[in-house]
Amino acid sequence: MKNILTVRPAEERDVASIRGLIAIYAEKAIMLDRDEADIRFYLGNFVVAEADGVVRGCAAVRDFGGDLLEVRSLVVAPDFQSKGIGRALLEAIISGLSIRRSSWRLFTLTYQVDFFRKLGFEVVDRKMFPEKIWSDCSRCPKQSRCDEVALLMSSK
Ligand SMILES: CC(C)(COP(=O)(O)OP(=O)(O)OC[C@H]1O[C@@H](n2cnc3c(N)ncnc32)[C@H](O)[C@@H]1OP(=O)(O)O)[C@@H](O)C(=O)NCCC(=O)NCCS
Repeated sequence: MKNILTVRPAEERDVASIRGLIAIYAEKAIMLDRDEADIRFYLGNFVVAEADGVVRGCAAVRDFGGDLLEVRSLVVAPDFQSKGIGRALLEAIISGLSIRRSSWRLFTLTYQVDFFRKLGFEVVDRKMFPEKIWSDCSRCPKQSRCDEVALLMSSK
């Protein structure tokens, strides 16, 4: 990438950009759709990646209590993939957790298994997670036909 890549906490002005990024993949059934009201409500969970001052990626962390968190809504704009933006978003989340918490477990449910493995996550049995993490499944068209893979990274 020619210019500077910045990862920062999301702000109100980013809501439409985040919505646009998620919609690209929600339309392909790769991730759950989130409308602007939902993104705004959970805005404090989001980070965005800016390239050339334009938001090209985002990710969110949901806190399930205890030491369990989920990385979700991780998206990089199609024309900006394979430039290190996904890695930068995930590494920003992980370093934020490492600063704020002595111990944490970060999981994801995804089709991008090799991407997460490359960044240090390990495939785990999804049954190890408590039921409350499935709260979003009622909104998902796949529901019991879910074929996403669970991966986990834990603090050292
Ligand atoms: C998955 C996604 C976030 C990756 O973002 P990205 O910016 O393209 O990835 P990066 O360029 O940061 O890649 C980091 C590393 O992972 C590798 N990688 C990226 N995508 C990969 C994939 N699908 N499979 C295997 N390796 C992958 C890269 O080669 C790179 O390796 P390197 O550091 O050795 O060169 C992006 O492809 C995306 O938005 N996909 C669609 C939405 C989606 O499925 N999100 C995940 C839902 S949880």
